Amino acid sequence: MDFRNSETKTNLMRAFAGESQARNRYVFAASQAKKEHLHVIEAVFTFTAAQEKEHAEIFYHQMKELAGENITIDGAYPIDLYDSMYDVLKAAQHNEYEEYDPVYKAFGDKAKEEGFSRTAAIFHNISVIEKTHSDRFGRLAQMLKENKLFVSDVETGWMCLNCGYVFHGKEAPAVCPVCEHDRGYFIRLELTPFI
Ligand SMILES: [Fe+2]
Ligand SMILES: [Fe+2]
Repeated sequence: MDFRNSETKTNLMRAFAGESQARNRYVFAASQAKKEHLHVIEAVFTFTAAQEKEHAEIFYHQMKELAGENITIDGAYPIDLYDSMYDVLKAAQHNEYEEYDPVYKAFGDKAKEEGFSRTAAIFHNISVIEKTHSDRFGRLAQMLKENKLFVSDVETGWMCLNCGYVFHGKEAPAVCPVCEHDRGYFIRLELTPFI
């Protein structure tokens, strides 16, 4: 099938629009978390925003064949403006899950049907990534709700995202003893991406 007449070309532009907006929403959410001294949540939104930018770039590059042209799309995009960080996280969890299933799964299946195997693989692989995003936001939302973001039932490690100090105990320190940044910088060691 000719790419120009495919549904896949439109799906790629939809995905590009969605990823671009998700990235911005997460940058905004990161600022909101920062204002609330929830630096660990700020870090997760910033980390995820960078991944959405990469997804946007991958989808965008798949449309190179139509360089110089426009692709018209329709689409519905969320307004996730909430005062409560819990609601912001839950909305992110929901949107990521939708991208995973049904949206990118269906886009991948359609691309495969239309004979664009590389694009199909991209949609299917990114779909699975969005599931990890959804799970991560959901887990943080749950922890925030249960007041478990900085308190654990069992002894665990806590890393200060500012200076890297690792504390072991049931609760993150109120203030980092090394850099004196507040508790909001501590992340459970098992959630730290680089250990
Ligand atoms: Fe994405
Ligand atoms: Fe995502």
